[in-house]
Amino acid sequence: MKTKEPQDLWHNPEYVAGLFDRMAATYGVLNYITSFGFSERWRKECVHLLGIPSPTSQTRGITAKGPEDEVVYDLMTGMGEAWPSLTSAGISRIVSVDLSPGMCGRARENAKRYNADIEVLQKDVMTLVDSGQADYVVCCFGLKTLSDSDRTSLAQKTRELLKPGGRFAFVEISAARSWWLGFLYRFYLRRVIPLLGRLFGGDALAYGMLGKYTESFGDCRQFAEELQNEGLSAQYRSLFFGCASTVSGSKPED
Ligand SMILES: C[S@@+](CC[C@H](N)C(=O)[O-])C[C@H]1O[C@@H](n2cnc3c(N)ncnc32)[C@H](O)[C@@H]1O
Repeated sequence: MKTKEPQDLWHNPEYVAGLFDRMAATYGVLNYITSFGFSERWRKECVHLLGIPSPTSQTRGITAKGPEDEVVYDLMTGMGEAWPSLTSAGISRIVSVDLSPGMCGRARENAKRYNADIEVLQKDVMTLVDSGQADYVVCCFGLKTLSDSDRTSLAQKTRELLKPGGRFAFVEISAARSWWLGFLYRFYLRRVIPLLGRLFGGDALAYGMLGKYTESFGDCRQFAEELQNEGLSAQYRSLFFGCASTVSGSKPED
């Protein structure tokens, strides 16, 4: 599937917002179908890596801090796809950030279904100024559309957002490394996903772009280094033969 999008536009925030606006109506279903349900599994894995403790228990009259007291920043939230896992873990305060008006509109509708305080901010994550507010920062499938320099800024932003001792986890679809799987995966990203996008009533060009972003992103290794450069502990993991990868860790206590 050929696209005529000039590469210098790829990481422009207005362009990215427009792309996701065009996918907003079909993203939920198509994301699930085209990943054979893996996206859902990888999202859960990402939230699991946050290491959210179980809800508050009282021991000898001392109440420990539990997830219900903690704040999660869900970056590039989309329509709130990570919320089921976050709320199941006991989280009741989520600040969600996304720059696409279409995605944010749907996220606000979805938020009504949860018994949780969910705030949806329509903005570029690079413009967040909420320093030291987050117990956790999570981001599912939001890294690939950022430029290299924006990912460096995101690593810095993650450090700024987190409280001392706070934890983070990122997951992203990645370019599989072995030649045979890489070949199949590229074919799938370049040809099959845009076709499925069109068949299911979506925008083939927009879905084709997701494949291009994935190929140029590579995996989370470089971003893990950026986070370490910010003084965070960060651990890289490869999922399912490198078809996705995660980076998770924490900010040191003061
Ligand atoms: C592939 S979707 C992922 C949505 C969701 N997190 C999920 O798990 O499926 C990426 C989202 O990141 C958003 N996004 C991309 N760049 C952004 C930025 N700089 N600031 C805020 N949101 C951004 C897009 O609008 C889009 O909704």
